[in-house]
Amino acid sequence: MKILIKNGNVVLNDKIEVLDIVIDGEKIVEIGKDIKQTKDYKYINARGKYVLPGGIDVHTHFHMDFGGTYSSDDYVSGSLAGAINGITTYLDYAIMKKEKTFKELLDKKLQLSKNSYTDYGFHIALTRADNDILKEMESAKDLGISSFKCFMVYKKENMMISDDNLLKILKKAKTCNLLVNIHAENVDEIDKNIETFVKENKLNNYYHYLSRDEQVEYEGVLKALKIAKEADAPIYIVHNACKDGINAIRKAKEQGQIVYAETCPQYLNFTSDVYKKEDSQNYVCSPAIKNKESQLALWDAIYDKTIDVVATDHCPFLLKEKLWGINDFRKTPNGCDGIENLYPYMLDKANRGVISYLDAARLVSYNPAKIFNILFKGEIKVNNDADIVIYNPRNKYVFNKEEMSFSKSDYSIWEGYEYSGKIETVILRGEFLLKNNTPLAKIGFGKYIKRG
Ligand code: URP
Ligand code: ZN
Ligand code: ZN
Repeated sequence: MKILIKNGNVVLNDKIEVLDIVIDGEKIVEIGKDIKQTKDYKYINARGKYVLPGGIDVHTHFHMDFGGTYSSDDYVSGSLAGAINGITTYLDYAIMKKEKTFKELLDKKLQLSKNSYTDYGFHIALTRADNDILKEMESAKDLGISSFKCFMVYKKENMMISDDNLLKILKKAKTCNLLVNIHAENVDEIDKNIETFVKENKLNNYYHYLSRDEQVEYEGVLKALKIAKEADAPIYIVHNACKDGINAIRKAKEQGQIVYAETCPQYLNFTSDVYKKEDSQNYVCSPAIKNKESQLALWDAIYDKTIDVVATDHCPFLLKEKLWGINDFRKTPNGCDGIENLYPYMLDKANRGVISYLDAARLVSYNPAKIFNILFKGEIKVNNDADIVIYNPRNKYVFNKEEMSFSKSDYSIWEGYEYSGKIETVILRGEFLLKNNTPLAKIGFGKYIKRG
């Protein structure tokens, strides 16, 4: 099928121009002015609207075995929730548990994700660093895996990587040209804080935040930077939420260290005051959402490009599960919803003049594709995949989970958010996922993306 998108404000990598785009099959085949419409084109009038590259959410946890249950979105519901809201590709975390090889884990994951609505890939989260694992890293790219993850936390969940092992993994990653993503918090400090709060019977969700406060994250980031420097390896620090941490990353970048920084909309939009609310459990995630100063520092880091990527860390649970910790924050499963709100949120900020549309596309599409080797995506360009989002800056709406959501979770931290514009059309490899607000996404259309 050929599609002609006419007269949209096309958000290219470095400028926005009123242009026409021709899609033939899965690809963008022509970009130009005054392209003539012929009979075999499906025609979309995008005048007054923004035409952007499809969103790439590089941080999801679908069907994650965590916190005594599984995250509530699987690859079907999670990808559909993203598809309708401009996320045409995602990278999910596949976490090594008892599997002996990456291949074994990847095979399971490919089975679970085969009905995905959108394109996808995986980061492998390592939970050990024995010789077999280090050896297998050498051939990870044959499986399409070019990024790994190390958690400096989650000891009791058997997901934590020690500092020594992190160093080993980073050294190996460096020799194999692989990127390691790091969840950076100081686990000893968290444990100490929790012990104190438990003794003092301070157990409501506000103490989740106080046990993983600004200092905890700052120390984790400093340590991650130090170990990466020792290994001389690039790193990607996931879900940054604190001022001193992001300032330390800025300094490391200035000194020439290769470090990429991610944050998430929940850290940009909320502050730790949410842990005083009646529905505090819904905001429990790690790192915890920090104070106002940190929120402002994250925006500063967006402005000066210290932050490279905004992704979701999408990991919602059912409300009844979130309520397990109502009298003991240690029992609240950690994670927030986000995939339905990432691109709408960033585009809302662009529409309100807080950032530019170029920023939104860079943070949610271009940089994720570049950093994680996702070829033919992340940019509106001839020969790239026709992954396209059309945004109407005048179509206001208020997010209403009950009526609008495709996620299987039964609450949203984004309930009631007033969006100033709306994603009206989403195209993935030339197929409509959403057309003029009508969902058309097809189950199983998503393809596994091998990354080299
Ligand atoms: O609270 C969170 N972020 N849950 C998902 C796991 C992680 O740390 O990314
Ligand atoms: Zn994490
Ligand atoms: Zn995560």
